[in-house]
Amino acid sequence: MKSIPRVILCVSGLVSISILSLVTMPVDKEANVVGWSYNTTRNTTNYIPVSGNWTASLAPERGVCDRPGLLVMMVCSAPMNFEARQAIRDTWGAERKVQGHNMSVYFLVGETNNVSMQNDLQLESDQFGDIIQERFVDSYNNLTLKSIQMVKIATNHCLNTTSYLLKIDDDMFVNVPRLVSLILAVNKTRNLLMGKLICGARPIKNPSSKWYSPTYMYEDKTYPNYLSGTGYLMSLDVAQKLFEASLSTPIFHLEDVYITGICARKAKVKPFDNHMFTYRQLSKEPCEFRRLVTMHHFSPQDIRDTFRALNDSNIERTCAGYKPKRNTQSWLYENVISRNRTVSRRSRCS
Ligand SMILES: *[C@@H]1O[C@H](CO)[C@@H](O)[C@H](O)[C@H]1NC(C)=O
Ligand SMILES: *[C@@H]1O[C@H](CO)[C@@H](O)[C@H](O)[C@H]1NC(C)=O
Ligand SMILES: *[C@@H]1O[C@H](CO)[C@@H](O)[C@H](O)[C@H]1NC(C)=O
Ligand SMILES: *[C@@H]1O[C@H](CO)[C@@H](O)[C@H](O)[C@H]1NC(C)=O
Ligand SMILES: *[C@@H]1O[C@H](CO)[C@@H](O)[C@H](O)[C@H]1NC(C)=O
Ligand SMILES: *[C@@H]1O[C@H](CO)[C@@H](O)[C@H](O)[C@H]1NC(C)=O
Ligand SMILES: *[C@@H]1O[C@H](CO)[C@@H](O)[C@H](O)[C@H]1NC(C)=O
Ligand SMILES: *[C@@H]1O[C@H](CO)[C@@H](O)[C@H](O)[C@H]1NC(C)=O
Ligand SMILES: *[C@@H]1O[C@H](CO)[C@@H](O)[C@H](O)[C@H]1NC(C)=O
Ligand SMILES: *[C@@H]1O[C@H](CO)[C@@H](O)[C@H](O)[C@H]1NC(C)=O
Repeated sequence: MKSIPRVILCVSGLVSISILSLVTMPVDKEANVVGWSYNTTRNTTNYIPVSGNWTASLAPERGVCDRPGLLVMMVCSAPMNFEARQAIRDTWGAERKVQGHNMSVYFLVGETNNVSMQNDLQLESDQFGDIIQERFVDSYNNLTLKSIQMVKIATNHCLNTTSYLLKIDDDMFVNVPRLVSLILAVNKTRNLLMGKLICGARPIKNPSSKWYSPTYMYEDKTYPNYLSGTGYLMSLDVAQKLFEASLSTPIFHLEDVYITGICARKAKVKPFDNHMFTYRQLSKEPCEFRRLVTMHHFSPQDIRDTFRALNDSNIERTCAGYKPKRNTQSWLYENVISRNRTVSRRSRCS
C-alpha cells in the first residue's frame, strides 16, 4: 500500500465517491428547485384555468385592452413594489399616445399573504385601474405562472384590439418612442418574437444559483435559443400560440427559457435578436439610452432621472457629438431604424 502514490489514492477515492453517489442518488434526490420539487405537478392546467372566465382577484373595472391600440405593455411586478410601479406610471408608462398610436400599460402581480399589503394593492387598483392580480403565490420561482397568465390575458382580451405585446419587468426603463419606431420599422404584425437573444445557454447545476436547473426539470444539455426575460416583444398571434403551447408543455421555472424558448419552439415561432433590447447594467448615460429600447437594473429614482433626461427637447443637440463607448455596431446609433438591419440574418444565432 505504501508504494501507491498519494495522488492516485486521492483520485480513486474521488472516483469511488462519485460512483457511490451515482448509485445512491436517484434523480428525485437531486437538490430541489424551491417550490418545484420532483413530485410537484407541472401541468399548466393545474395552475391556470383554461375556461375563458376571468379569474383575477384584482382587475381594471373597464376591462383590459378595452381601447384599440398598437401596443400593450404588461409589467411583471411584485405586490411590494409600489414605488417602482408609481415611477413607471409617472414616466415611460404615462404616454397614452405615441406617434398617433394608442398605448396601454398594466401591472401583473400574484398573491400575497400580507393582509395590509393586499389592502394597499386594492387601494392602488381602485385609484389607477391598472393592476391585474391573478391567483397564484407571487414568488421568483413562480414567474413562469405570471408569464403564462400574461399570454392568456393577452389572448382573451387583447387579440382583437391590439397588435403587439411587450413583456417587461418593473426594474426596467423602456424608451417608448424608440420602441414604437422599431415596431413600425419592423412592420411585422404576425409571427414576431423579438428581444435580446441568448444562444446555446446551458442549465446551471449549482443549487445555490438563482438559475439552478436540475435534470428532473430540464434534461437536455442546452436550452433552446431564448430571449432575455427582462423585456421581449411579440405580435398578438404569437401570444396566442405561446399560450396554447403552454397548456401542453410541462412548466419550467425560468420564465424566459420556458416562454420564449421551450414554448416558442413547440409553437414553431422563432425568437429574433435585437440589440436595442439590453439587459446588462450599462452606464446611466442618456446619450446612450436614447438609442436603446429597454434597459435593466433601474431603481425607481433611476427611472425618473433617465426619463427627465430623455424627455428634454434638447437631447439631440446635447448628444450630437456623442460617440458610443462600447464596441456596439454603429447602426444602432442611427436616428432612423432600418427594417433591413433590424430583421436580418444577424438577428439569429450564427
Ligand atoms: C416522489 O413520490 C414518490 C412516489 O410517491 C416517492 O417515493 C418519493 O419519495 C417522492 N420524492 C420526493 C422528492 O418527494
Ligand atoms: C394536464 O391536465 C389536464 C386536465 O387535468 C389533462 O387533460 C392533461 O392530459 C394533462 N396533461 C398532461 C401532459 O399530463
Ligand atoms: C364561468 O362563469 C359563468 C358565469 O359566471 C359560470 O356559470 C360558469 O360556471 C363559469 N365556468 C367555470 C369553468 O368556472
Ligand atoms: C385610440 O383609442 C381611441 C379610443 O380611446 C379610439 O377611438 C381610436 O380609434 C384609437 N386609435 C387608434 C389608432 O387605434
Ligand atoms: C406587510 O406589508 C406592509 C406594507 O403594506 C409592510 O409595511 C409590512 O412590513 C409587511 N409585513 C411583512 C411581515 O412583510
Ligand atoms: C406557486 O403558486 C402556486 C399556486 O398558488 C403555489 O401552490 C406554489 O406554492 C407557488 N410556488 C412557489 C415557488 O411560490
Ligand atoms: C375576437 O374575434 C374572434 C373572431 O371574430 C371572436 O371569435 C372572438 O370572440 C373575439 N375575441 C374577443 C375577446 O372579443
Ligand atoms: C407593412 O407591411 C405590409 C405588408 O405586410 C405592407 O402592405 C405595408 O406597406 C408595410 N408598411 C410599411 C410602412 O412599410
Ligand atoms: C415631457 O416633456 C414635455 C415638455 O417637453 C411635457 O409636456 C411632458 O409632460 C413631459 N412628459 C412627462 C410624462 O412628464
Ligand atoms: C432591403 O432589402 C431588400 C431585400 O433584401 C432590398 O430589395 C431593398 O433594396 C433593401 N432596402 C434598403 C433600404 O436597403
